[in-house]
Amino acid sequence: MEKPNNRILSGVQPSGDLHLGNYLGAIKNFVTLQKDYECFFCVVDLHAITVWQDPEVLKDKTREVTAAFVASGIDPNKNNIFVQSQVPQHAQLGWIFNCVARMGWLNRMTQFKDKAGKNSENVSVGLFSYPTLMAADILIYLATHVPVGDDQKQHLELTRDIAQKFNNDFKTDLFPIPEPLIIGEATRVMSLRDGLKKMSKSDPSDYSRIMLTDTADKIVQKIKKAKTDPKPLPDNKKDLENRPEAENLISIFASLKDDTVENVIKEYGLKEFSFFKQELSDLAIAKLEPITKEMNKLLSDITYIDSILKDGRNNARSVAEPVLMKTKEIIGFLS
Ligand code: ADP
Ligand code: TRP
Repeated sequence: MEKPNNRILSGVQPSGDLHLGNYLGAIKNFVTLQKDYECFFCVVDLHAITVWQDPEVLKDKTREVTAAFVASGIDPNKNNIFVQSQVPQHAQLGWIFNCVARMGWLNRMTQFKDKAGKNSENVSVGLFSYPTLMAADILIYLATHVPVGDDQKQHLELTRDIAQKFNNDFKTDLFPIPEPLIIGEATRVMSLRDGLKKMSKSDPSDYSRIMLTDTADKIVQKIKKAKTDPKPLPDNKKDLENRPEAENLISIFASLKDDTVENVIKEYGLKEFSFFKQELSDLAIAKLEPITKEMNKLLSDITYIDSILKDGRNNARSVAEPVLMKTKEIIGFLS
């Protein structure tokens, strides 16, 4: 079995509409990285059902994430785009990793604590063991690099621990220790209503996030209403400390423009936020509108979307199966 040295896997859940955090923290980086890596981009529906999903909506959202990948610039002919539940090897390796990971490791996962909240007795078992399946998503392809937003850092560390423990326990070097790729100027996009909270699908306020499906008018309104402090933009990066809302808007601008926070501050330092927000709206619309349009166009041809997923699934299975076979042999399962 061939061991890759530059293979990427990443996943996005079809659990709701995609927002600017998903785009800047993950998908935009996928587009850049496809040039230098062999890529597997997975719509992680098994992860989505760790919380309730309406069956009809889940189907639509699975195709929407696929369309968003392609509309953002991921070439489906050069990369594997596929649905997690259509490659059963993920769940099979996930079970094995449930028996490798320790309760103590999972008990430390902050995303579980955030998502379960006070309701921890009543959430699904899947929500708790979520990170072991994520480790399987990555390691079933022997992926070496994983581009994600900053919020997934802890899950990546757990993946590394699982790979290491499996290799040690069975005295093998089968699994690579994958590296996170947390890159760009907006690795953690914050809510537009509260600069201390992550922009997320689950925030009850629609004004907290910009969706990839928002119209230009909606984007203008949301940015206009975004929380800021009364001061103008700072004229150096250090003065962004303790100004989370200002820092967030400036990082979003830098990331959308493919520029650095320093350069944005150089250009807009000491300008009023009312002016900066207009510039940010124009930039966001210029960058997002073509993606939204392309997404809608792609979604009008479901046969095409499904054909991309079928090719992706077949390729993904052919890479995943020998790794699963090898893992089973190492464990001592009969073939
Ligand atoms: P969500 O976290 O919105 O439920 P996913 O779990 O599907 O979405 O995340 C898909 C990708 O988007 C992951 O790589 C994740 O790190 C990234 N991501 C999600 N929210 C943000 C954010 N606010 N800022 C940066 N990246 C984010
Ligand atoms: N857990 C990721 C998130 O919530 C989604 C995900 C599932 C993922 N499997 C993955 C990301 C594998 C990277 C690699 O955002």
